[in-house]
Amino acid sequence: MSTQPYILILYYSRQGATRAMAERLAAGVESVRGIEARLRTVPPVSPTCEAVDPEIPAEGAIYADLDDLRHCAGLALGSPTRFGNMAAPLKYFIDTTSELWLGGALVDRPATAFTSTSSLHGGQETTLISMLLPLLHHGMVYAGLPYSEVELMETQAGGTPYGASHVAGKRSDLPLDDHERRLAFAQGKRLARLALALERHEEDT
Ligand SMILES: Cc1cc2nc3c(=O)[nH]c(=O)nc-3n(C[C@H](O)[C@H](O)[C@H](O)COP(=O)(O)O)c2cc1C
Repeated sequence: MSTQPYILILYYSRQGATRAMAERLAAGVESVRGIEARLRTVPPVSPTCEAVDPEIPAEGAIYADLDDLRHCAGLALGSPTRFGNMAAPLKYFIDTTSELWLGGALVDRPATAFTSTSSLHGGQETTLISMLLPLLHHGMVYAGLPYSEVELMETQAGGTPYGASHVAGKRSDLPLDDHERRLAFAQGKRLARLALALERHEEDT
C-alpha cells in the first residue's frame, strides 16, 4: 500500500447520490500533488441484531475500518440526509471510534462533511451540522466552504458554507449540476491542501 498521505472520504449512500458526491470530492483531493483520496463506505444497519452483510460490498467502495480513520491526514464524511440528520449506518460506525477518541488519534486533523437530500429545503445544513459534532469531539479542525467559491452565491440547488450538498430529487436520481460539482471538487481540494499544510506545520513544531 502507498505511503502517501491520504484523505479518507468516508460515506454512506443507498441510492448513489452521496457516492457521486464522494467521487467528486475525491477528484478534488487528487488534483493536489502529494496526497491521495481513499474512498470507503460503511455497511447498512439492520433492526435484526444478528444480520450480517458480506465483507465486501457488491459495488462501490469497500468498508472502512478504524485504521483507515486512524492514519488519515484528513477526513471527509458524507451522508444522505435522513430526517434532517446523518444516516444511521454512518453514525453507527462513528460510535465505534471511542478507541481513537481516547487516544486523541484525530486531534488537529482537518475534516469536512457533505450531504445529499431529495428536497431543496430538506435539512442539508442540519445534517452537515449533525456530522460536525462528533468531528469536534474528536478534536478535528472543521473546514466548510468559503464564499470565495463563487458558486455558493450562484447555486439554485446544493452548496452551503457548512459543506457541499446536492439536491437529488424525489427518486434521488438527479445528477450533480455544475455548481454542485464544482463545490464538491473545491471542498476536496481545500481539505487536501489543509491536510498537507497541517502536516508540514506539525513537522516544524
Ligand atoms: C429514511 C429516510 C429519510 C429521509 N429524510 C430526508 C429529509 O429529511 N430531507 C430530504 O430532503 N430527503 C430525505 N430523504 C431522501 C434522501 O436524503 C435522498 O434521497 C438522498 O439523495 C439519498 O442519498 P443516496 O442516493 O446517497 O442514498 C430521506 C430518505 C430516507 C430513506
